[in-house]
Amino acid sequence: MTTPVRRAAEILRAGGLVAFPTETVYGLGADASSAKAMARLYSVKGRPADHPVIVHFLSASEAFKWGEATQQAKALAERFWPGPLTLILKRSDKARDFVTGGQPSVGVRVPSHPVARELLKEFGGAIAAPSANRFGRVSPTTAAHVREDLGADVDLVLEGGPSEVGIESTIVDLSSGAPVVLRPGRISAGELGIPVGKGGPRHSGGMEKHYAPRTPARLVATHDLDKEISRLKATAAVLAFSRPDERVDFWLRMPREPSAYAQKLYASLRELDGAGCDAILIEAPPAEPGWEAVLDRLRKATAP
Ligand code: TXA
Ligand code: MG
Repeated sequence: MTTPVRRAAEILRAGGLVAFPTETVYGLGADASSAKAMARLYSVKGRPADHPVIVHFLSASEAFKWGEATQQAKALAERFWPGPLTLILKRSDKARDFVTGGQPSVGVRVPSHPVARELLKEFGGAIAAPSANRFGRVSPTTAAHVREDLGADVDLVLEGGPSEVGIESTIVDLSSGAPVVLRPGRISAGELGIPVGKGGPRHSGGMEKHYAPRTPARLVATHDLDKEISRLKATAAVLAFSRPDERVDFWLRMPREPSAYAQKLYASLRELDGAGCDAILIEAPPAEPGWEAVLDRLRKATAP
């Protein structure tokens, strides 16, 4: 009997595109060794050809055939894989220009989601997968989000329930000089003992305006929220910790714990966007440890 995962592996082998669940967000997968498959991936994503994508593997030993296994890379892999961590490593000749965007490094990750792992096992190779949204949009955390964004441009969407982490993997650059965190995630810079870097290699997650809803969105400090609401001249959708305010048309309440907040974040931004209001107001999370990754995504969603 042909299972969805087997069908998905066949599609990948034929150069097609398969969206699949990971523990972070849904990925849009293609055969990372095929120039033709990668060209199709970039065109569907609407992503510039010089932006690298992350390559997914079943095991660290497979990943280290594509990227250099330094002591530090091995230690991080041992501690966090399978899981929501991407390592940027010096590339081997398996990682071609069409995956790395022409850079001397490659982003590798071993995901923990059981469906992602089944797919990697069945396919037997490396799967390149950016988040399964169009360039510049909020990442999908359900199969339904993927269908909304990509529709018929993706050959198959594997169902795997809502993503548990809800925001993209932590990215650590080990490819040049001192290690730096390029993108914060569930695994924090503090936990890694590695500082958050500025600049570094080209990565679209580092661009100012990226994870953005269509409706203009603003971050508002807790102590300004009431004042901002009283000043509203048009309809607004609000994302906040507190109870709904009757002056506001659409209100979503968020958890006060960062990982629970992250899990709901992208689905909530999509809901706020879909409410058809003129503006989105987002209550800023507290300036406390643990909120770095959420704050990073909120800043990008609200960048002017
Ligand atoms: O959680 C995730 O990482 C998800 C799931 C599907 O694995 N993937 C994801 O991919 O977020 P994407 O392409 O949407 O974001 C990957 C980021 C981009 O900003 C990309 O430019 C950067 O990683 N990146 C990939 N390879 C890189 C490299 N060699 N050097 C610097 N940045 C790199
Ligand atoms: Mg993305």
